[in-house]
Amino acid sequence: MVSELECLDKDINAQVIAVFPDKVKIVVENLEIFKIAEESLKVGSYLKIADNENAILIAIIENFQIVASEKGREHVIEAFPIGVLRDGVFERGGDSLAIPPKEVKPASIDDIKKIYEASVRHEESFSFSRLSSNKEVRIPVNGNKFFNKHIAIVGSTGSGKSHTVATIIQSAVNEKSEEFSLNNSHIIIFDIHSEYKTAFPDANFIDISNLVLPYWMLNSEELEEFFLDTEGNDHNQRNIFKEAIVSDRRNKSNGTEQEKQMIHLDSPIVFDIRSVLQYAISKNTEYVDSGEVYAASNKEKAGQPKLTQGSLYGKLTNFVNRLENKINDSRLNFFLGHDSMNISFEETLKNLLGYSSSKNSNVTVIDLSGVPFEVLSITVSLISRLIFEYGYFYKRLRCARNLDEKINNDSPILLVYEEAHKYVPNSDLSKYRSSKKSIERIAKEGRKYGVTLLLASQRPSEISETIFSQCNNFIAMRLTNPVDQSYVKKLLPDSLGSLIDKMTSFKQGEALLVGEAIILPSIVQINPCKNEPSSNDIPYWELWKEEWKDMDIDALKAEWYR
Ligand SMILES: Nc1ncnc2c1ncn2[C@@H]1O[C@H](COP(=O)(O)OP(=O)(O)OP(=O)(O)O)[C@@H](O)[C@H]1O
Ligand SMILES: [Mg+2]
Repeated sequence: MVSELECLDKDINAQVIAVFPDKVKIVVENLEIFKIAEESLKVGSYLKIADNENAILIAIIENFQIVASEKGREHVIEAFPIGVLRDGVFERGGDSLAIPPKEVKPASIDDIKKIYEASVRHEESFSFSRLSSNKEVRIPVNGNKFFNKHIAIVGSTGSGKSHTVATIIQSAVNEKSEEFSLNNSHIIIFDIHSEYKTAFPDANFIDISNLVLPYWMLNSEELEEFFLDTEGNDHNQRNIFKEAIVSDRRNKSNGTEQEKQMIHLDSPIVFDIRSVLQYAISKNTEYVDSGEVYAASNKEKAGQPKLTQGSLYGKLTNFVNRLENKINDSRLNFFLGHDSMNISFEETLKNLLGYSSSKNSNVTVIDLSGVPFEVLSITVSLISRLIFEYGYFYKRLRCARNLDEKINNDSPILLVYEEAHKYVPNSDLSKYRSSKKSIERIAKEGRKYGVTLLLASQRPSEISETIFSQCNNFIAMRLTNPVDQSYVKKLLPDSLGSLIDKMTSFKQGEALLVGEAIILPSIVQINPCKNEPSSNDIPYWELWKEEWKDMDIDALKAEWYR
């Protein structure tokens, strides 16, 4: 039987006429013969270009041109090389082809499927999308590499980021190596727009009504940022604040005198913020013995010790007011209320990690929509830092128990930040300092301790570069803002050719998937999620055409003022 390639060879219907590092130019005489019968050829289709040494270059068609020549109309195809198949194994990069190349033909769907399927071992394979140009091709990523390295999802509003987050997590939670009800995935979503409750009905759901965060677990820097007027740089308030916290902790401790002396501002030990307030008030209104007594001429006080204003008298008024305002602010109850003082370290950690006596959960959704803006950064910072430190101490524990331990964390965690530019912006403003610091630390060191970040953002150019440059897997969805586009281009590998320019015209749910976890950068369609996040497009036109609806303003007000 004569193979198709041999036919082509004989007629020399398709010829490579130029090879560049990032481009291959091909002339095709008769496009009908060149096509594979059942598959259409279009921009984005794959070609196979073979050399004499059994290597096959795989290239993606970038453009077609029709050129008039002596022989009639010829078709010129420019294709972008993505990698080489050698003995059935795919390698990235296109520069190892022996020149001159011999044969060109379109790759069949089976060829493409094989490349993707052979790229990941079955046990490591994780799939949440299909090839955009051919939905029959399921795209696997290496699940270990995908979750072990930080992930960025970028795209303009409405491009499909939230749905992608939902699809990825739903797929991850559902995959099991054997038959059991709950797998060992651990995911915490910081949900700033109340979107994810609908997507994860079984999740451990935490919002302002049941969130209890212990202020006493803040570290010294966070404590100062939250309670002190740091811009004011007032030594008196700082000293009194530290003194009050440490002494209250020592008073509450049952330890030995030596242990009490070890307690400091960073110790995660309970203190009562109300005692700190009382201490500050007492210092602010303190009279001290001057060492003198009133003279006999003062009939009322004669002989009594003379009192004078203490060294801090009246100097802490701003601090006292600030502290009082915070403690009395009912919006901050989740953080400064009595529950916050009484919750234990263990309970806090269990709540965040989804361990509960009644129901364990793979996914914890922390709905931050009710958290006042001025405490958002500190809230996110505290939770992120606790999770990081969990990873750190868990590794220490495991390694202490078994000196040969190779796996640092057998219950690794994914932290998902929606609208990441809100917590880790490219800005040095003090209101972002703490969350930025905690998350940057995870970006730099989290991998070793089993804590990975997934950042979703519509404004990638506004995200801290430290964090973004640590991401290894990118899901770039439609991106229309030129500043964001060029920023994302800078972060992606140079070898993407014109794939990257397609970003402007992606459909909803379409994305450029690139990074260590995937065999070759691919334009994919993210699978639809099962339960959708409540971020769907609103059918304006249909709603507007319906009859006028009454609005329950009273109920709205009640919700608003709650
Ligand atoms: N994979 C997909 N396939 C088909 N449609 C999708 C897909 N992903 C999202 N969509 C549709 O796109 C719309 C917007 O999706 P989504 O809310 O995920 O966007 P977003 O990028 O998170 O937007 P924003 O930045 O405003 O939060 C939804 O109505 C959804 O139905
Ligand atoms: Mg969204």
